[in-house]
Amino acid sequence: MKPTPSGSTAVPSWLRERLVRSGGAVPFRDYMEWVLHDPEHGAYGSGRLEIGPRGDFVTSPSLGAEFARLLAPQLAQWLARWPEDLPLALVETGPGEGELALQLAVALAEGWPALAARTELVLVEPNDGMASRQRQRLGAAPLPVRWADFAALARDPLRGVVLAHEVLDALAVERFERRGDRWWRQGVVLRDDHLALEALAPLPEVLDHQLAELGLLPLDERRPEGWCSELHPGLGPWLAACSGALAEGFLLVIDYAHEARRYYAPQRARGTLMAYRRQQASDDPLREPGHWDLTAHLCLESLEAAARVGGWCPLGGCRQGEALLALGLAQRLHALQAGDPARLAELLHRRETLLRLVDPAGLGDFRWIAFSRGLSAPETEAEPLFLSSPEA
Ligand SMILES: C[S@@+](CC[C@H](N)C(=O)[O-])C[C@H]1O[C@@H](n2cnc3c(N)ncnc32)[C@H](O)[C@@H]1O
Repeated sequence: MKPTPSGSTAVPSWLRERLVRSGGAVPFRDYMEWVLHDPEHGAYGSGRLEIGPRGDFVTSPSLGAEFARLLAPQLAQWLARWPEDLPLALVETGPGEGELALQLAVALAEGWPALAARTELVLVEPNDGMASRQRQRLGAAPLPVRWADFAALARDPLRGVVLAHEVLDALAVERFERRGDRWWRQGVVLRDDHLALEALAPLPEVLDHQLAELGLLPLDERRPEGWCSELHPGLGPWLAACSGALAEGFLLVIDYAHEARRYYAPQRARGTLMAYRRQQASDDPLREPGHWDLTAHLCLESLEAAARVGGWCPLGGCRQGEALLALGLAQRLHALQAGDPARLAELLHRRETLLRLVDPAGLGDFRWIAFSRGLSAPETEAEPLFLSSPEA
């Protein structure tokens, strides 16, 4: 598409028509929802985005099965807490290519066959374009698989574990910026032949309490005119719907996240929003709408507050590097040294993958955050394995 002077690209006709119908401007949140999740034009809705080293961006499971093999003992620890006659579910939300669900099903069937025999895989994926690829990928899964949404699951809530790996960062965010002595909602505005991000209207005062909790009110000179960031209004409804789908069990969120003091630090003047396509990163969310993944980090305190309101009990969290070491990554690395030299290329690839998963400047900085619900005494439950100290 033709670059515009702002560095963004020409406005596709479907988006132009929608913006005109909406009076020429919409809140950024609506724009993000459209360009990611519109069934025909959205990057995920249409299934256009591809995850993996040859696709648009990589995620931990797209690097191979090492990630799932390390995560499986944590899921098994949680699933094994229920008596043997009860059916169980492993729910994956936002399963992307279906890689992680398949790898986990294989790891459970191999390592914990009795648990696997009473566990079904349930995939929650609102985008048909992605779900059709997941159906192909999971055709030969060793566990029964079905697709459902939270509302359908809430009619007969499950018992088990919900996994949210790199999905909450795809929820549409509210973007806001400083204008004068107030916070204003940012919107996407149609300007002649291009799109612009502009302040649309003051943020509603009902948000003042939340903004104060996050250290954003009262306003002072440390965050000057134009300073902007994001809020996640979609988190509360998502966590509440998710908890309605689970009678009792655990939720593990794995995602990019910062504490509020880092997220909203004065020096982070452009927020955390990023766009990804074909292994390239861009800070321009208006570029080729519907062709780039848009993602914003989570704020840990906002996640925890929304989870509590949604009926979840926080169990703790840590960085992925620490979690994977607690789950035995160092032992796996060590074991590779005793591998068959005839399979050197494979051994080296596995070594590289393991190191990438804990790289503090990359995937190792992701956060693992666990919650439970419906358990009689969650505080006396065994500590999650991934929060324990790594064995020497
Ligand atoms: C970044 S991909 C992550 C894929 C996979 N979990 C992985 O790590 O490889 C985001 C996935 O979440 C899905 N998704 C987006 N919004 C969702 C929502 N509200 N609920 C569940 N899934 C969602 C997308 O369609 C896509 O499959």
